[in-house]
Amino acid sequence: MPGTFVTFEGGEGSGKSTQLARLEQRLREAGIVPLVTREPGGTPLGEGIRALLLDVGGPHAKSAATPSAVTEALLMVAARAELASRVLRPALAEGRVVLCDRYGDSTLAYQGGGRGLDGAMLASWNRAATAGLVPDLTLLFDLPPALGLARRATAAGTRNRLDLESEAFHTRVRERYLELAKAEPARFTVLDAAQPADTLAERVWSAVTARLPAGSTRG
Ligand code: TYD
Repeated sequence: MPGTFVTFEGGEGSGKSTQLARLEQRLREAGIVPLVTREPGGTPLGEGIRALLLDVGGPHAKSAATPSAVTEALLMVAARAELASRVLRPALAEGRVVLCDRYGDSTLAYQGGGRGLDGAMLASWNRAATAGLVPDLTLLFDLPPALGLARRATAAGTRNRLDLESEAFHTRVRERYLELAKAEPARFTVLDAAQPADTLAERVWSAVTARLPAGSTRG
């Protein structure tokens, strides 16, 4: 695909969404208007799936309607199928820079590492859902879960159903992310998310600009 596809991954409270917003701003200043989206979500159907899966206050939260691990994974992957075909592929075909807050690695880390579903099965679902669309660059914001969960606890109004899982769950998520990064070092850049936000933003900028076609930024 002619565009550049960058995904942001990491645990709760890793600061990745803040860094995504900063990167978007800096790209705009450099004359590039990226397409920004998120998972689960980014399409009307995907946002509906997001509400079903993540709401803690809604009718589906922590009740008999809480999905099984497989249902949860299938819904995440279904939201991804919509996003890949309706948003990501068309934007990349136009040569856009696409920034996506979470993508297939989230399913591998949360539903695979966290919930214990089979990794090869989930990877094949991801491939089927996206017709093999893989990011050019994946930024992994790595942070010890205790630190991330503490940050989350102090930020008002941002907790979802997955945030409420145990620290052991989030430790398994982190470990799986690091395994994925190790297996694909060319695609992943692992960032220490405990660094000051300004330092982190510089690292993000270097990693992203290194992937852009030469001469594409004016800044
Ligand atoms: P979100 O509110 O976007 O939080 P964050 O800032 O942590 O990204 O919530 C997304 C949640 O959904 C997050 O807890 C991770 C989870 N998730 C999965 O479990 N599997 C997936 O495939 C995706 C895309 C997200």
